[in-house]
Amino acid sequence: MRLVTVLLLLVLVCLVAGARSGKKQRQERSQRRNKLNSVIHFPGGCKEYVENGDKYLDCQDCQLTAVLLGWPEDIDHLLLAQNRINVLRDKTFSHFHNLFTLDLQLNEISLIEEGAFSGLSKLTTLLLQHNQLQFVSEAMLIPMPRLRHLRLHDNPWTCNCQLDSLVRFLQVPSNRYMGNFAKCAEPTDLWGQKLKNMNPRLLCLPRMQSQFLLPRHHSESSLLCDTQDSPKPLVDCRGRGLKVVPPDIPENTVKMDLAFNNITELKPKEFVNIKDLKLLNLSSNGLRSIDTAAFAGLLHLRELDLSNNSLHYFNYGVLEDLYYLRTLYLVGNPWTCDYNIHYLIYWLKHHTAVEHTGLVCSEPEEFRGWSVESYVKTYNDECPKGMQLDLHRTGTTDITSQELIAEIGEDPDLLPSPLQNKEHKLEEFKIFRLN
Ligand SMILES: *[C@@H]1O[C@H](CO)[C@@H](O)[C@H](O)[C@H]1NC(C)=O
Ligand SMILES: *[C@@H]1O[C@H](CO)[C@@H](O)[C@H](O)[C@H]1NC(C)=O
Ligand SMILES: *[C@@H]1O[C@H](CO)[C@@H](O)[C@H](O)[C@H]1NC(C)=O
Repeated sequence: MRLVTVLLLLVLVCLVAGARSGKKQRQERSQRRNKLNSVIHFPGGCKEYVENGDKYLDCQDCQLTAVLLGWPEDIDHLLLAQNRINVLRDKTFSHFHNLFTLDLQLNEISLIEEGAFSGLSKLTTLLLQHNQLQFVSEAMLIPMPRLRHLRLHDNPWTCNCQLDSLVRFLQVPSNRYMGNFAKCAEPTDLWGQKLKNMNPRLLCLPRMQSQFLLPRHHSESSLLCDTQDSPKPLVDCRGRGLKVVPPDIPENTVKMDLAFNNITELKPKEFVNIKDLKLLNLSSNGLRSIDTAAFAGLLHLRELDLSNNSLHYFNYGVLEDLYYLRTLYLVGNPWTCDYNIHYLIYWLKHHTAVEHTGLVCSEPEEFRGWSVESYVKTYNDECPKGMQLDLHRTGTTDITSQELIAEIGEDPDLLPSPLQNKEHKLEEFKIFRLN
């Protein structure tokens, strides 16, 4: 009996000593488990094991939709790849204080709340590739000051103002292992651009609001105008008292009716995002001036209605992007038959597939009622060469071919048409003008 008591006491002493050297003991236990390759099972089908002294909780491919209660908290690596998690709520991981690696790839995550990673102050690697993320804010990364590796690729990132803070964070030089290969999926004009090296200013341009404001959402112009999705995307802004072209026209619009408004001026690149546009109706707007680059990017436009406006002539170069134009409605404008009108006639002469209506001189008085083509023909036939040169010099042409080339050359990406071709044409025109 005494012997038994002594033995029990000895065991107790050993236990106390053991508890004192808790850390050492745990390491030893780890090593033992490592050697034996021992695995402990946890809720949800997760397995805990130790490799090279690091403790892993492996919950891969377990059909999990959330982080479960009852998982060990002292793990170094949490493997949650290939599950069905779609939301990460605030404080999801806050009890895993030792975590170095968090693998969440191949889930269905579309929302990460800002505090989802709070408490992960030791985390160095976060894997979020192959998910459904469109936006996250830089704020979600703040609780992880030691983060060095962040994978974000293969997510449908929507590159608008909501992504601004993340993109700017990724572009900080010291964050060079973060977000490589992540690309914009939307909007269409930024598709495929890498978050890592895109121009962050493109994210917050006013025009970029269009993606919140596609017809399925609400926008000023889609409230103001009628938008119709089928059969073809159509925006009807007729007679809405508009003074400018609405900035948030859905990018897939095919027909755009702006007739009977009060748009007196077209500025550069007004329609540059609406690349599919086939019909543009600007009839009855009191339109007085059209910038040289106003129609930039409208490579598929087929019909342009400019009837019943206040146009006197076209700026040199205005029509250069309209490769597929077939019909130009020009009736009801006070076309002025002087040197400035020659560009329009020259362009029409070189684009014989384009039908046009209503090109009649209203000024000066001597040519009133003449067709503009007859006027130009007469001018070319009758005017002595020297005088033409003179007129050219004193005329009020507002842009030279050199200026035009310079302007287009500034931003070649926005004007995808072959420049070489243009230069050639301009050269021809120059000769035509000087002869
Ligand atoms: C169009 O705008 C001009 C100048 O802003 C204004 O004087 C005119 O009344 C407007 N017309 C209509 C029909 O709104
Ligand atoms: C443009 O709008 C005007 C006014 O509604 C209409 O008369 C004209 O036919 C339209 N043009 C085209 C090409 O549809
Ligand atoms: C021409 O445009 C003016 C406004 O600019 C409008 O009041 C008038 O009704 C239009 N005329 C035709 C024939 O469309």
